[in-house]
Amino acid sequence: MAGSKVYISKTLAATTVLMTFSAIIGIITMIAVYQLEVMSLPPTKPPEPTTTETIPTGPPPSMRLPGNVIPESYKVFLQPYLYTEISNVTNQTFLFTGNSTVQLRCMEKSKNIFLHSKDLVLKAIRLTDLDENVNLEVTHHVNESDSDSNFLEIRVENEVLRENGSYSLFTAFEGILHDDLEGFYRSEYEDQASGEKRFLAASQMEPTDARKVFPCFDEPAMKAYFEITIIHREGTTALTNWPMTASGSNTIIIDGESWLVTPFATTSKMSTYILAITVSDFTSQPSPHREGIKVWARPDAVDAKHTDYAATITVPILEYYEEEFGIKYPLNKLDEIALPDLGPGAMENWGLITYRESALLFVEGVSSETNKEWIATIIAHELAHQWFGNLVTMNWWNEIWLNEGFATYMAYKGVDKVEPSWNVKDLIVINEVQEALEVDALTTSHPLCSAEEDIQTPSDIAGLFDVITYSKGAAVLRMLSYYIGENQFKMGIRSYLNEFKYSNVVQKDLWRHLQQAVDDAHRLENVEDVMKSWTQQVGYPVVTVNTNDGKVYQEHFLLNKTEHMSTLQWQVPIITVKDGSTDKPITFLLTDEVTKSEFKSDRWVLANVNRTGFYRVNYNKENWQRLIQQLETRPNEIFTINRGQLIDDAFNLARAKYVNVTLALDTTKYLKNDTEYIPWQSAVHNLDYFILMFDRSEVYGPMQAYLRKQVIPLYEYFENYTIHSEVPESHTAQFNQINAISVACANGFKNCTDMASSLFNRWRENDTYQPIHPNLKTTIYCNAIAAGGEDEWEFAWERFQNSTVATERDKLRYALSCTKQIWLLNRYLQYTLDPNKIRKMDAVSTIIYIARNVAGQALAWDFVRAQWNYFSQQYDGGIIALGELIDEVTLRFSTEYELQQLKQFQAEHGEDSLGSASRALEQAIERTEANIKWVKENKRTVLEWFRRESKTAY
Ligand code: BES
Ligand code: ZN
Repeated sequence: MAGSKVYISKTLAATTVLMTFSAIIGIITMIAVYQLEVMSLPPTKPPEPTTTETIPTGPPPSMRLPGNVIPESYKVFLQPYLYTEISNVTNQTFLFTGNSTVQLRCMEKSKNIFLHSKDLVLKAIRLTDLDENVNLEVTHHVNESDSDSNFLEIRVENEVLRENGSYSLFTAFEGILHDDLEGFYRSEYEDQASGEKRFLAASQMEPTDARKVFPCFDEPAMKAYFEITIIHREGTTALTNWPMTASGSNTIIIDGESWLVTPFATTSKMSTYILAITVSDFTSQPSPHREGIKVWARPDAVDAKHTDYAATITVPILEYYEEEFGIKYPLNKLDEIALPDLGPGAMENWGLITYRESALLFVEGVSSETNKEWIATIIAHELAHQWFGNLVTMNWWNEIWLNEGFATYMAYKGVDKVEPSWNVKDLIVINEVQEALEVDALTTSHPLCSAEEDIQTPSDIAGLFDVITYSKGAAVLRMLSYYIGENQFKMGIRSYLNEFKYSNVVQKDLWRHLQQAVDDAHRLENVEDVMKSWTQQVGYPVVTVNTNDGKVYQEHFLLNKTEHMSTLQWQVPIITVKDGSTDKPITFLLTDEVTKSEFKSDRWVLANVNRTGFYRVNYNKENWQRLIQQLETRPNEIFTINRGQLIDDAFNLARAKYVNVTLALDTTKYLKNDTEYIPWQSAVHNLDYFILMFDRSEVYGPMQAYLRKQVIPLYEYFENYTIHSEVPESHTAQFNQINAISVACANGFKNCTDMASSLFNRWRENDTYQPIHPNLKTTIYCNAIAAGGEDEWEFAWERFQNSTVATERDKLRYALSCTKQIWLLNRYLQYTLDPNKIRKMDAVSTIIYIARNVAGQALAWDFVRAQWNYFSQQYDGGIIALGELIDEVTLRFSTEYELQQLKQFQAEHGEDSLGSASRALEQAIERTEANIKWVKENKRTVLEWFRRESKTAY
């Protein structure tokens, strides 16, 4: 039939060719071609009933793209209309328009093409057969009823796509730059000199929002080349992943206004989720170490040198990775940009890494040591992704831990390179291993690697960005690296990256390369066998060492062990030391029960040296007593990490009823003689559970008395610094000073609370002089606001609104949640619904802070329930973790009544409206049940223990 093929006119063909060569012509023709393209569209006919067609036409059976047609390269034009400055225009607009031409390869005879498109208005669609040079008649269909798939289906009428045929699909579209932090969105900030609002456009594609920017095959394995051109207003700078082409930007006039057309070089083969675009009036600071590396931010922030620290550490970390991974960073540019609004803390987009301001801008004299560590960590994390994720990508989201686990693990090595005095390689135990062990002890946890078919919808995918993926991922990699040897690990990683660069992987590929490195070193470890037990199975074991008979065995560690029998077994690399022994540590791989005669001993044995293994250790009573005795006499004979471990394991074993709760509490008695951060942090963290369970009961008084008694020596150890608002030299000592103040003040140690209030008041009386050291601000602001009333709150709120330094704003935003005044907390909760007061990216964490405050707990839970529809509409499927919200707001739940409320909430909202929070809600229910039991069984004992121990003199 004549109408079924539309031959391309010669002029149109010629203009299309020209477009690829010249930027100016590109844009002019873009507009012209666009008109032509729209006109050249064949009239859309009503779909004809299919006759005896054998080629499948229906939707694919899952949410996954069928793979019958795959993208090879895209040309994308995007034009955001917003004005960065609105003082001299009346009609700000958030529209963006664009078009995309994607070259396709047809893998099998097909009638349709599925790709993704979300919230875009399609203006034109054209499918061209490139082999025959003809346009094909198509109809398109957006499946509205199944909103999770976001499929845009292109149906080919009267024709069939040939196997191996080359096609190109043109789409023209419009969208809106919302303030929703997803896809192509808008952000704003205040210019300091003028006090005026400024706007910018930015993007966040991961995991599934590239489809909101242009129609695309939005799956990580659908890698392609991208050639992006941005048409943006004069006076703004556009950035994307790759550098601008050599020809640079050109000015054109559209409707009397000046625009710049900026063409960017074609990318390497890459996934859609790491694409990025920003259009802003930002300026940049170049790295002093290497050409092409820049840190971008608001002009005020760059002028004030807030970008210095990031610009200094980026290149050394990058070069360390180049060396460690044996592959150069493949681009000649890297932009890191601090955005006023961003969903995650940072995003690793290839060549254009986006950060929240608090994750990139370090303000000397204002930002704290904690802020600095976070900036270094997050930079190191995102840089590691340039290899793990960007160059080599998981095949599907079920193995996202190959991205996030690696980046988290490597970040510690990267930071260690630039800040060796920080000892971050020890801190991984507190920040990742300990966190992951906690979550993974719940029956509602999940394996590191889910089944591919279980991860389908955007919210399934968003739900995977959790502690297991990040922290357990990092923890098991660390374990493996010690088990097979760091050098073998490095060699295996190098060949893995090298083989799979620009393509996709599954876990097995990693194991194979690590195995090769092990074999090459003539070692005997079996990588896959060992690792499968850690990545495919949920949970981890508790290893019991009995020094009476030398027996060592493992079982699945579950907080709620009575209800769930589990027979899971792991391959557990064990490293042990023995009191008084000068021999090398005893190492072995535990699978089944063994008897080790070396362990039959009347001196203590300690397993999991430096906590390199992802498991807990239990001992016979006698050995526990010997270890506690050692802590009380000469604590330093046990490594710092292991002192923390003994406390953490004891507390968790007590919660799971392997040991008495008093044994756990006994591990904290020696702390009055320890000033190290790791054991203290471990204790503070675990006692936090007691605080959550008991701060609404009569246990609280004696508990506070005990904590006060324990912390006073530590407080006094740092007091000379604290009262002068100074800090010690060492990184971890600085952290422990904060612990000392927080614990002392929270438990009513008067010297502390007076100190906090008086420093805060000095600031309030003269707010041009800040007497509080940046490290101490968070805790001092919080304690002063907790002790104060409306005036203190209002002062902090005003400072919050006036500060342009994100790290300072974050400290104040937290401290505002510390008030005990119910009405202030209630009003503060309401503020989280108003993006002019609390930015959207901060709403969830602000509610979490309020729920952490015992006075705000119930308010926050009521608020979350009342506003659930708002939150799930605003944030689900996106990066803002609704799961985390549920998880944190229900942490204190430990009564039947609270359990009923949770169950009712679950019943009222089906899976659909819970979205990515549905697993978190199940976990909250499980945890609440466990808490109820635990409180019932332990309250009396705990009360007596605290009473007794708070009385004994120290
Ligand atoms: N790829 C993530 C950002 C992300 C997270 C995108 C979830 C989409 C969904 C990025 O690399 C990341 O992991 N950021 C972390 C910081 C990191 C230091 C743990 C974050 O934002 O918290
Ligand atoms: Zn990451």
